[in-house]
Amino acid sequence: MATFTKETYTARRRALSSSITEGGILLFLGNEESGMNYEDNTYTFRQDSTFLYFFGLDQASLAAVIDLDEGREIIFGNELTIDDIVWMGTLPTLKENAAQVGVSETMPLSSLSGYLGRAAASGRKIHFLPPYRPEHTLKLSEWLGLHPAAVKGGASTDFIKGVVNLRNHKTEEEIVEIERAVDISAEMHLQMYRMIRPGMTEKEVDAAVTAIALSQGAGISFPVIATINGQTLHNHIHPNTLKEGQMFLLDAGAETESHYCGDLSSTAPVGKRFTPQQRVIYDICLAGHQAAVKMLRPGTPFRDIHLHAASVISEGLKSIGLMKGDPVEAAHAGAHALFFPCGLGHMMGLDVHDMENLGEVWVGYDGQPKSTLFGIKSLRLARPLEPGFVLTIEPGIYFIPELIDLWRSENRFSEFLCWDEIERFRDFGGLRNEEDYLITPDGARRLGKYIPTTIDEVEALRS
Ligand code: GLY
Ligand code: MN
Repeated sequence: MATFTKETYTARRRALSSSITEGGILLFLGNEESGMNYEDNTYTFRQDSTFLYFFGLDQASLAAVIDLDEGREIIFGNELTIDDIVWMGTLPTLKENAAQVGVSETMPLSSLSGYLGRAAASGRKIHFLPPYRPEHTLKLSEWLGLHPAAVKGGASTDFIKGVVNLRNHKTEEEIVEIERAVDISAEMHLQMYRMIRPGMTEKEVDAAVTAIALSQGAGISFPVIATINGQTLHNHIHPNTLKEGQMFLLDAGAETESHYCGDLSSTAPVGKRFTPQQRVIYDICLAGHQAAVKMLRPGTPFRDIHLHAASVISEGLKSIGLMKGDPVEAAHAGAHALFFPCGLGHMMGLDVHDMENLGEVWVGYDGQPKSTLFGIKSLRLARPLEPGFVLTIEPGIYFIPELIDLWRSENRFSEFLCWDEIERFRDFGGLRNEEDYLITPDGARRLGKYIPTTIDEVEALRS
């Protein structure tokens, strides 16, 4: 079953088609099954999000075209064979599926290359999106006569911009789905707050929160980060046992069966209470978080919000002697990136980093170039905010010993960084809290069930 009515998919395709002025053919490639260690032992199937957005069908081995010149919409796929039915069960026919999403024309998958070949031979443009799966690169290479290395660069900017403009603005029916994903994600985090104990393993927490995502939705929206080493930003390995005095960082989100995502992070003491040093750093990070949330409204560039959060964090670190000088200057120069080397947040929707495959420059920068400065180069979103954007707010404070050693050896930002004090924190680890927000016409709304953010709220769950 498609998530939305056929009118929704039809309206999305119509809006996309009318945004492309050049004509030609828009090509949508659905995903294939993918073998883990042999062909039939597959990873969990995940449909391409743009295919889902415009054509709604959540099955492998489909493709579609919108023929802008001839006014046709066609879904390409194969009917089930008797072997498919014996091994995998039955499903509606391709025609029935296509009708559900408002498409009346279907063709066998094998006819797609001929269709594209004829269009290309008559000089019509084939618009395609940058592929992220190697089999799609090879197919496009063969069909369009491009060297595989040239395929990504041949993607259609008009098509990318048309898709991004629609998918960046979430509709009310999408918000309902996203908020369900965030609610399930919140349950995962509440479970962590309640369950962690000294002696428990990171793997046990991963398993428990993943069980919630699997039992209430389609599973997790990205690999779970469940770690006592919060200073490693995307720590997907979980070999450790939790010890009293440590902090535990969970960054985890659920995906609904409609494939909308949630993404939350939380940090808790492994024991009942944060240590005094942890409390101080936690509160500085929270001040950055709250300052960022206050600035969320249409028209405000997310880059300014990121830099403001970085300034507030720099001010807090100055107040405890880790930084010096003017905090705003420090943030603009990039000195805070020793402690906060990533971005404040990112778009979220059918992908947890929404449309990252289409390019952050289009999704998060509206075509403007990204900075190459360490820290802000990792900011995925910078553009002025608009109603309907859904994004995360996730500042963190991290003490990464190798980064401290490197910058200290280069005496980098010595006008802002107090090396002897910083040294006292080198084994601190890292912490982050993350929430998901919808930009509304006059501000922003936090999505999903509330999870603890202040020290008192967190410790109340640790009794
Ligand atoms: N939650 C993972 C990330 O935002 O990168
Ligand atoms: Mn995130």
